[in-house]
Amino acid sequence: MERRKAKDSDLDFSVLGTGCWSFGGGEYWGEQRQKDVNEMVHASVDLGINYFDTAEVYNDGRSESSLGEAIQGIPRDKILIGTKISPSNCYPYTLIKHCHASLKRLRTDYVDIYMLHWPTHAHSLRHFTRDPKIIENPPVIGEVLETLKALQQAGKIRRIGLSNFGTRLMEDLPDLSSVVVNQLPYNLFCRAGEYDALPFCEQSGIAVISYMSLLQGLLGDIYPSIQDIPALQRRTRHFNAKNSAESRHGEHGVEDEINEALEGIRKICKETGLSMPALAIKWILLNPAITCSLVGSRNVRHLELNVRSAEGILSQQIKEELDRITLSIKDKLGNHLDYYENPVNDRTLGGQRIL
Ligand SMILES: NC(=O)c1ccc[n+]([C@@H]2O[C@H](COP(=O)([O-])OP(=O)(O)OC[C@H]3O[C@@H](n4cnc5c(N)ncnc54)[C@H](OP(=O)(O)O)[C@@H]3O)[C@@H](O)[C@H]2O)c1
Repeated sequence: MERRKAKDSDLDFSVLGTGCWSFGGGEYWGEQRQKDVNEMVHASVDLGINYFDTAEVYNDGRSESSLGEAIQGIPRDKILIGTKISPSNCYPYTLIKHCHASLKRLRTDYVDIYMLHWPTHAHSLRHFTRDPKIIENPPVIGEVLETLKALQQAGKIRRIGLSNFGTRLMEDLPDLSSVVVNQLPYNLFCRAGEYDALPFCEQSGIAVISYMSLLQGLLGDIYPSIQDIPALQRRTRHFNAKNSAESRHGEHGVEDEINEALEGIRKICKETGLSMPALAIKWILLNPAITCSLVGSRNVRHLELNVRSAEGILSQQIKEELDRITLSIKDKLGNHLDYYENPVNDRTLGGQRIL
């Protein structure tokens, strides 16, 4: 599988990464058997994937533990492990404590990339804690970076990363040069990054690990209709908030545009003989800002299909057709990387909005 290097670093990512959010099982993705995780992780390595992505918050640490169990027997230097610290745990003492807890769950001495999961401003913190002491005194980003550098010097983390940081927040960082990665949503229906965040990362030498490659299943073509998407996966701004009790954005969504685009994509599938997830993955990998695209494969069958999808390049003509078919969704949703909140509450822009 093709590898892409994070500029100025020794991190060489496979273009496809294995998203581990479902590992350990939980409310969001349902049951996930350890046997399948073990098979999936070993098959990922055999098929050329070297990057595994998790977070301390995924299934209350069970995702990290499950990945830690699955990597037993794989030489540590054959894989890259990325995990994320929740913004509410970022005061110097707690950050170090939480990093050590992640290492223990992952059964490793170091992580290759340690990311700040979401920005540390008050509005973002509210999603991780109800403790008013933390919300009223958010961790200061400069101090967070200093603590991360100390962990790096201690050999606990190889590189520092961010996640869900928009352009302005990246520009405002006291030390952008210490950051190697930003993790952002990117797929055919989540194109906000194209406005400025992806070009900014490319110009600044920040590798982008993109997530939600299949928009949590919709671009895997696993749902007969939008109505069949479970409430938790129907929370994003694409869908009418009225139809998902879990939704927070309060908007009407772009369901007509999505249905029209899906029809157009299915037509291209027929013409090319490619599946929808194959088209979706190939389209992402054509963007030069993307270093690694994460897919939450949950079994070896899906994994193999996704790995095959990462091979071979889409023609320019099909890429442009897909750009055109999905343009109305990009235009309507605009330059907002936070697909869970309306534009006023967009956490990736910073600010102190009230939910
Ligand atoms: N930094 C962040 O804030 C953030 C946010 C979200 C995600 N992430 C990371 O990104 C990773 C991937 O994103 P995601 O899990 O949100 O969703 P995703 O990869 O867009 O979608 C996962 C869904 O796609 C389905 N799928 C996978 N391969 C398929 C195939 N070949 N054909 C049909 N369906 C297929 C799976 O189906 P089944 O259910 O049938 O297996 C699952 O429902 C996560 O695991 C996590 O590591 C990071």
